[in-house]
Amino acid sequence: MVTILVTGGAGFIGSAFIKYMFKNHGDIQIVNLDLLTYAGNLENLKSIEKDERYRFVHGDICDRELVSGLFKSSAIDSVVHFAAESHVDRSIRTPDVFVKTNVLGTLSLLDAAKAAWQTGEDAYKPGVKFVQVSTDEVYGSLGAEGFFTENTPLDPHSPYSASKAAADLMVKAYADTYKLPVNITRCSNNYGPYQFPEKLIPLMINNALAHKPLPVYGDGLQIRDWLFVDDHCKAIEMVLRNGRPGEVYNIGGHNERTNITIVKTILEYLGRNVDASIDETLIRNVQDRKGHDRRYGIDSAKITAELGWTPETGFETGIVKTIDWYLSNKDWMERVTSGEYQHYYEAVYGGK
Ligand code: NAD
Ligand code: DAU
Repeated sequence: MVTILVTGGAGFIGSAFIKYMFKNHGDIQIVNLDLLTYAGNLENLKSIEKDERYRFVHGDICDRELVSGLFKSSAIDSVVHFAAESHVDRSIRTPDVFVKTNVLGTLSLLDAAKAAWQTGEDAYKPGVKFVQVSTDEVYGSLGAEGFFTENTPLDPHSPYSASKAAADLMVKAYADTYKLPVNITRCSNNYGPYQFPEKLIPLMINNALAHKPLPVYGDGLQIRDWLFVDDHCKAIEMVLRNGRPGEVYNIGGHNERTNITIVKTILEYLGRNVDASIDETLIRNVQDRKGHDRRYGIDSAKITAELGWTPETGFETGIVKTIDWYLSNKDWMERVTSGEYQHYYEAVYGGK
C-alpha cells in the first residue's frame, strides 16, 4: 500500500486528481492537506469522502510542525503538491499571500519530505517522490510562433507565475543539492467540472446564465492552450509513477484558442440549448489585465515520448461536458458565488 500526501486536494485539479487515483488504483491511501481557502471546497470530494483509503487534514502547508507531523504519523511515500494561490488577477492585487503559500509553503513541504525520507547523504528511502505541480506560465509569453519546451528559459510576468517559478527553482535546488527525488510538471490551462468561477470558462458560463455582461480583457485575442482536467490528472499520475527523477515534464493539449473564441463557443451552446436570448450582445471588451501574457502553447513531446501520455478528451467533447456539468450543478455555483466572491467580483470588475 502506497500513501500519497496530496496538498490542495479540495481545489479544482487536486480534487479531480484524488478521484482519478481512487478510480484507477486499489492499492493507495491518500492524505489530503488543504487549508480550505475560498478556492477549497470539500463538496468537490463528496463522492470519495467516506472511502476508507482517504483522510482529510485541515491545515496550512506553511505550518511546519503540522506538515512534519503528517510525515511521521502517516508514513508518506510521495507528495503531489497542488496547494497554491492559483489566480493571476488575485496575485496582481495581493502578491504577498502568493509568496507565502506558493514559495514558503513549498519550502516547508520540501524540508519535511527531505527529513522524513533521507536515509544517508544523497540517499533516500526507495520509491519516494515529490511532484511539484507547476504551470506553463513560468515560461512567460509566446509570440505567434513556437511552443514552450522544458528548456525554455523561465520568464514569469505576474506575481502568480513569479511565485510558481520561485517554488519550482526551490524544488530544483533540493534535487540538485540534496538529491531529493523530484519531478516538476508544467501544464497549460485546465478546464472541467468544479473549477472556481474566477477563471475564464466558469466565470463566463455563470455570467451568461445570469444574463450579466461577459468581461473580455482587451481585444480578446490572447491565446491559451486548453486541457481537460482529467487528462492533466492522468499525466501527473504517469509522472508520479514513472517520471525520471529530477526531470521537468510539460503537459498540454495542442488545443490553442483565443479567449474570444472560447467565450463565443460557450454563448453558442447556451443560446442553442438553454435560452436563445443568451448571445454575443452580452460580450464587453473591458480594460486589459496588467502584464497580460499574449500566448501560451505547450510542446508536450517529452512526456509523450518518455511516458506514453496523450490527452484523451478533445475540446469539443470536453467543453460540452463542462457546460453540462455547470448546468446540472447550479446549486454548487450558487454556494461558491455567495459571500467572498461578491467582494472579489466587485473589486476586480467593478471599475472595468
Ligand atoms: P485552486 O485555486 O482551485 O485550488 C487550490 C487549493 O489549494 C484549494 O483547495 C486551497 O484551499 C488550497 N490551498 C491554498 N493555500 C493553501 C495553503 N496555504 N495550505 C494548504 N492548502 C492551501 O487551484 P487549481 O486550479 O486546482 O490548481 C492546482 C495547482 O495546479 C496549483 O498549484 C496551480 O498552480 C497548478 N496549475 C493550475 C492550472 C489551471 O489551469 N488551473 C494549470 C496548471 C497548473
Ligand atoms: O496556463 C496555466 C494557468 O492557467 C494556471 O497556472 C493558472 O492557475 C490558471 O488560473 C490559468 O491562468 P490564466 O490567467 O491563463 O487563466 P484565467 O482563466 O484567469 O484566464 C484565461 C484567459 O482569459 C486569460 O488570457 C485572461 C482572460 N480572461 C480571464 C478572465 C477571468 C478574460 O478575458 N476575462 C476574465 O474575466
